[in-house]
Amino acid sequence: MNLGADYSSEPGRATAARDRGLIVLGIETSCDETAASVVRLTDDGEATVLSSVVHSQIDDHAAYGGVVPEIAARSHVEMIDSVVRRAMAEADLGYDGLDGVAATAGPGLVGGVMVGLSFGKAVALARDLPLVAVNHLEGHAVSARLGARVAYPFLLLLVSGGHCQLLAVRGVGDMTRLGTTMDDAAGEAFDKIAKALGLGYPGGPALEALAATGDGSRFDLPRALLGRKGCDFSFSGLKTAASRLAQACETDQARADLAAAVQSAIARQLSDRSDRAMKAYAEDQAHRLFVVAGGVAANRTVRATLEATASKNGFAFLAPPMAYCTDNAAMIALAGAERLQKGLISDIDTAARPRWPLDEKSALSDPTHKPGRKGAKA
Ligand code: KG4
Ligand code: ZN
Repeated sequence: MNLGADYSSEPGRATAARDRGLIVLGIETSCDETAASVVRLTDDGEATVLSSVVHSQIDDHAAYGGVVPEIAARSHVEMIDSVVRRAMAEADLGYDGLDGVAATAGPGLVGGVMVGLSFGKAVALARDLPLVAVNHLEGHAVSARLGARVAYPFLLLLVSGGHCQLLAVRGVGDMTRLGTTMDDAAGEAFDKIAKALGLGYPGGPALEALAATGDGSRFDLPRALLGRKGCDFSFSGLKTAASRLAQACETDQARADLAAAVQSAIARQLSDRSDRAMKAYAEDQAHRLFVVAGGVAANRTVRATLEATASKNGFAFLAPPMAYCTDNAAMIALAGAERLQKGLISDIDTAARPRWPLDEKSALSDPTHKPGRKGAKA
């Protein structure tokens, strides 16, 4: 690790930077992307991404059809130094120009989280900067604020490879969970069904591309939870049924038709559950804004379906720019800057957490997964 030799100290520049708001280095290593970013946040809430570097490990994991934790952790160790160095260079900043360092501290694959968090701690200690340990999900929750000026509060659908949750977001670190998945996350369903269809990893984008040439009406898939009470999700029945049908698909057209049916079934459930959440949310909240974030928010059918649901319920709709839907460090830097603005700084001995629910109160009082059972991370 080299924290000083390549970047000169420029005190005048640091002061000027501070006048323009808080400038924070963000680091993200919780899954299969090594990412670093520098974001500026002004006092009145305007976020500017000064750099965002993402090194994807897709090639390292492709042969295994999914992320291998040990390979991921080693790759993060190899890449973190150069990725952070590039982010600082592209932001045209020295370390003295920073006001803080934010690093993902969980939830995620703990070996990888430890790499980024330790690197962040080292920068904070070496440069005497405040450290902000960021919940990866909180990063997704604020990610729409990277592309537009989004005021709190809002209703959030966080839909990624490891998570599927509806949250009432009042501010950074201030959220109530309205629903979560009882089994798989939506991205996980996309990935596993894509694997059964013989598509590469990650499956979501590949399945979306295949679905573009398919006719979704050819297959009848389970309609889990549709119209049921509450805002929880379930994708395991769909995953099992679709994976079984995939084995019997003998032509490219049949595979495309199944992909289209899967995509619309997932979009339909996300829409049905969000519809319920919007109705509940609107009972005591006049500000009607619906935000969808996380990797699955990159899916055009999912976006369009949710936008229509929001409009039907009188909600404005917003999704992050495509580049900030999937994992990135700009969202971590922004969440860190928002926390820093509120004086929320972490201890230097903060530990990496494989599990870290956003709304710890709801997660403890109403655990979807009882302790010890394997399931979604939060
Ligand atoms: O947010 P993310 O990068 O990582 C997690 O925090 O999980 O989300 C990755 C997930 C994967 O399951 C991937 O297949 C899915 O997002 N995804 C998509 C699309 N792009 C990414 N799913 C469906 N359609 C897409 N275009
Ligand atoms: Zn993520």
